[in-house]
Amino acid sequence: MDNRPIGVFDSGLGGLTAVKELLHIMPHENIIYFGDTGRVPYGSRSRETIMKYAGQDMAFLESKNVKMIIAACGTVSSVASGIGEKLTLPYTGVLKPAAAAAGKATGNGKVGVIATTATIRSGSYRRELAAINPEIEVFDRDCPLFVPLVENGWIAEDEQVTRLVAQRYLTPLREAGIDTLIMGCTHYPIIRHIISEVMGSGVTLIDSGRETAAYCSALLRKQGLLCDRSADGDCSFYVSDRMEGFSQIAGIFLGKDIKREVSHVDIDLY
Ligand code: DGL
Repeated sequence: MDNRPIGVFDSGLGGLTAVKELLHIMPHENIIYFGDTGRVPYGSRSRETIMKYAGQDMAFLESKNVKMIIAACGTVSSVASGIGEKLTLPYTGVLKPAAAAAGKATGNGKVGVIATTATIRSGSYRRELAAINPEIEVFDRDCPLFVPLVENGWIAEDEQVTRLVAQRYLTPLREAGIDTLIMGCTHYPIIRHIISEVMGSGVTLIDSGRETAAYCSALLRKQGLLCDRSADGDCSFYVSDRMEGFSQIAGIFLGKDIKREVSHVDIDLY
């Protein structure tokens, strides 16, 4: 048994899609979340910068005595894939759990991947899916406007601008006949309702944050690191920029008021 918190990080709000699922499947676990809101987006940056930012994010979480680190960021998982190897703690990104779920879900072998420009450029999902099943045909597309739309809270079902952007990005994937779509950036499930409407009900959406939370739960169980189940877990949120904007959108997304639990961190100190 291990009551230390699970550390989760992302460039901003996206990793909350993993937190939401962690809270759902492991309500007793303590969670520390870091959103690098002062430096979001990561997806348009160079590998060197992404490696540096991810290193600092993980150093901050390690300073909080976490028992495991989740890079709940598709960009870090894809571009800085080896970064967890330096850790003595269990670590996972979102790439492998999401690709494995897509490999299982596809019936016609046509899998779509949407993610940040850096993730798509890295070819990580293509490689991972080919390793799972070389017959899988991959159709990928970067969707750089989704992250700022989500970070600015343009996430409601009737948000016409987000809907138009989604139609523009996703129509070619729908026309290619994919039956499975990996939301390879953890921000995207926040607008899942819009993505799903554009793609139609015949396409299975894979939520990389959700798949990773399930993977984390299985790993902690296997290593005997689950916490004591007698109390409800605590969640603390840290951001590198203004706390107000984050707590409002995060609160809507997680379905609970998190104002009191958000703190600021100077990430350059790590
Ligand atoms: N949520 C992140 C991802 O999964 C990052 C988005 C960004 O910062 O560009 O890729």
